[in-house]
Amino acid sequence: MQDNPLRRWLSNLTGKHGRQPVLVKALSKRDHRRVLRHFLALDSNDRLLRFGSMLRDEQVIAYVNKIDFSKDIVFGVVNRMFQLAGVGHLAFISREAHPDSINYTDKEKVAEFGVSVAASARGQGVGTRLFERAAMHCRNSDVDTLYMQCLSSNRTMMHIAKKAGMEIKREYGEADAHLHLPPPSPSSVLAEALEEQVAKIDYAVKRNTRAALKWLSPKK
Ligand SMILES: CC(C)(COP(=O)(O)OP(=O)(O)OC[C@H]1O[C@@H](n2cnc3c(N)ncnc32)[C@H](O)[C@@H]1OP(=O)(O)O)[C@@H](O)C(=O)NCCC(=O)NCCS
Repeated sequence: MQDNPLRRWLSNLTGKHGRQPVLVKALSKRDHRRVLRHFLALDSNDRLLRFGSMLRDEQVIAYVNKIDFSKDIVFGVVNRMFQLAGVGHLAFISREAHPDSINYTDKEKVAEFGVSVAASARGQGVGTRLFERAAMHCRNSDVDTLYMQCLSSNRTMMHIAKKAGMEIKREYGEADAHLHLPPPSPSSVLAEALEEQVAKIDYAVKRNTRAALKWLSPKK
């Protein structure tokens, strides 16, 4: 069957398998505190899975402080409480950083992706949608190779990678997965633009609702 990003996005919006639609928005510097709170809430095992080592709080803070929101692309899914249910971090880097990429691409840049979902929001498609949005963004930026590194024991992430058709190389307990992406199409560009617009509205509604609830709640 022909790939149709727009149809795929619409089917997510209507709520796949009776799930709530998951809207992915590009985050900005204004979300810095929310991103930090999301990472600090990950327990040590999740930090190991996400960062490859059990980062202490101060290392997590340093990692978030180093994110350049104007260069890297940070995607987020906000829950009803206006907290981040999931965060995906996409970075475009020189292909020399992945020497084997010479076999897969002749573009100068490749992408690297890392993702985490709050423990309370797992199993609802948030991780999958963040991954799909990152892949769509790469495609629309004319970057055709997306890398993801994780532990081979990370069965959930391995499942998401395989489902997306990633090629996976396992070595010493680590898995290096990469996905080859097709060039952008009018449908992929439109799907991403629509998703961002709808996610922006959803984000604004949740932010305003939270602000109103705060304002209405009795002051101590
Ligand atoms: C990995 C992670 C991002 C997944 O997020 P999520 O929102 O729960 O993922 P989704 O709900 O989109 O998808 C989970 C899929 O894995 C499947 N799954 C869950 N546990 C599994 C397991 N033990 N083995 C195989 N598959 C599993 C689910 O059935 C689901 O598949 P489906 O969509 O085909 O039904 C989340 O668990 C997480 O943040 N983990 C800690 C950090 C991490 O591992 N990051 C990845 C490193 S880059």
